[in-house]
Amino acid sequence: MTDSGFDLSENEFLLFKQLIYRETGIYMSDKKKKLIVARLSKRLRALNLSNFTQYYEYLNEAGNADNEIVNLINRITTNKTDFFRERHHFDFLLNELFPKMIAESRSGGQRKLRIWSAGCSSGEEPYTIAMTVLEAFKAERGWDIKILATDLDTEILQKAIDGVYPTQAIVPVPKEYIPRYFIRTGDMYELNQEVKSLIAFRRLNLMDESFPMKNPFDIIFCRNVIIYFDAQTKDALLAKYHKYLKDGGYMFIGHSESLMHMKDSFRYLKHTIYQKA
Ligand SMILES: C[S@@+](CC[C@H](N)C(=O)[O-])C[C@H]1O[C@@H](n2cnc3c(N)ncnc32)[C@H](O)[C@@H]1O
Repeated sequence: MTDSGFDLSENEFLLFKQLIYRETGIYMSDKKKKLIVARLSKRLRALNLSNFTQYYEYLNEAGNADNEIVNLINRITTNKTDFFRERHHFDFLLNELFPKMIAESRSGGQRKLRIWSAGCSSGEEPYTIAMTVLEAFKAERGWDIKILATDLDTEILQKAIDGVYPTQAIVPVPKEYIPRYFIRTGDMYELNQEVKSLIAFRRLNLMDESFPMKNPFDIIFCRNVIIYFDAQTKDALLAKYHKYLKDGGYMFIGHSESLMHMKDSFRYLKHTIYQKA
């Protein structure tokens, strides 16, 4: 064992790399060896294990397997997120897409809106969508609007459900939104019921063969999630998103991601925003 954690042999690395890929779709390149050691050594200590082989065996033991896989996944995922991350997405919703939907509803269009935040992490993304919805639809009546927010990591999902954030987390939130949508207790800010009631949080593994949702979405956000997947996993997931989007539905992806190689399925609209073709 080194100061930073337990040693991980090439063979052990391969076993963990395959296990993580199988369970989460997350592809660990050779550069990620240190990350595995850094994130999992604490778990070995907590379980009183002396090396990664023992941990691998523990993970595979009947009875332990399911619970410990959840712990492993919770440590491996990268949960970086922010309120109003990639602000142009929310400007587009507020100033272009939602006004367009409202105008269409006035000429007989539906008053129903379904949005999915896939890989929602600690909740900043779906809460930002919800605040944007409340702003855009505040003068409207009779709309049925729901946001589904899902993640694989159970610990981060609980943080999302709690919806309580420290002062530094709310820095990107427009100042006028804070009294409107948050309840302050000391240095902590909690989203109010109006915002929370728009969102249903669920654990969902994007690698699952099929998803339990029955109806398609108008909008899917899957931002800064597919960067952790290899090309094959990415494309299989995007094909599923295509299926779960309504005709003409909108797909929002992360700043370093692209769907340009899927022109037949997703039409480029503007930077990291696509429409189902
Ligand atoms: C970097 S965060 C992105 C959060 C947010 N979408 C954003 O852009 O700010 C990536 C999230 O994807 C989740 N994730 C990774 N693999 C997943 C999988 N197979 N199924 C569901 N969620 C997954 C992680 O747990 C993590 O919370």
